[in-house]
Amino acid sequence: MKTITVNTSKSYDVLIGAGILDEAGTFIRQTVGGQAAAIVTDDNVAALYGNRLAETLEKSDYRAVQYVFPHGEASKNAETFISALNFLAENKLSRTDVVVAFGGGVTGDIAGFAAACYMRGVRFVQIPTTLLAAVDSSVGGKTGIDLAAGKNLAGAFYQPDAVICDVSLLSSLTPDVFRDGCAEVIKHGVIADRVLFESLKTPINTQLEAVIARNVEIKRDIVVEDEFETGPRKLLNFGHTVGHAIELLSDYHITHGHAVAAGMAVVTRAAVRMDMCEAHCSCDILDMLRRYELPENTKYKADDLARACLSDKKRDGDSITMVFPAEIGRCVRKEIPIHELEKVIRLGLEEL
Ligand code: GLY
Repeated sequence: MKTITVNTSKSYDVLIGAGILDEAGTFIRQTVGGQAAAIVTDDNVAALYGNRLAETLEKSDYRAVQYVFPHGEASKNAETFISALNFLAENKLSRTDVVVAFGGGVTGDIAGFAAACYMRGVRFVQIPTTLLAAVDSSVGGKTGIDLAAGKNLAGAFYQPDAVICDVSLLSSLTPDVFRDGCAEVIKHGVIADRVLFESLKTPINTQLEAVIARNVEIKRDIVVEDEFETGPRKLLNFGHTVGHAIELLSDYHITHGHAVAAGMAVVTRAAVRMDMCEAHCSCDILDMLRRYELPENTKYKADDLARACLSDKKRDGDSITMVFPAEIGRCVRKEIPIHELEKVIRLGLEEL
């Protein structure tokens, strides 16, 4: 098992190993204490692993209760959030009890936002069950829900007290859900680590524990430098501005990782056309997306994408910060005036 410590405003450990779900109760008891543990999870994860988590919590003397919502991004809304809060209140969770997010990115976002708001903040543990949550969303404290106008428009920075990543749970993921996480792993390689990027030429699933650990370190280093995303953390949004627009335009039928992959491809082609990166860097990125059967473009038009981008919270007044690759392992942030956004996206939609 590997342990990676994240020293943000709250210091916490990320444990990564195979089979550690059954030790979660012991670890949570030692780390956060409390009497009750509210598991927040979706119907898929509850059916597969809900009893195992409840059992380990009960063995460590927790009163375990489980809030289950329908899986999918469509659940990441105000209704689920309020109903999760009501569930915590009805089950008499107190200030010293713990909310356990058990699932992928959507679950972590809803559970984390509920933990941040319930009684103005209770203890919170993340147990990711998707590759995307393991390498990205379970670390760094972003929590929230979507509003009709756009993704993640309401939320809070709320760091967990611990993250417990049992890599053996990822074996039950469908190929599509696994690929969502691969997109974020490729993103980390492009923004921060050429060696990681090159290592992805060997399939991720043959080196899962090491890849997850390296991704958590990359994310940890960026988040520790800029917990509240005033500057460098924006690099983690490589592919996300266009990606969120694609998700919104598809009514969330295109999932986050697939949309981010298309978003990375679009800004990479735009970067070549704007002389910000060499054509071979773009080839390497597009080849890697292809290798993991991720999209390299989108059917949406530049004007629709630009309009959808404007609802993204990354907008700062009349400009938007976009992230472009400079070379594999290094990206740059650039302010794009709103009136130029459509032109930049159009450059990225055209094949090189
Ligand atoms: N997923 C990007 C971030 O946590 O900043």
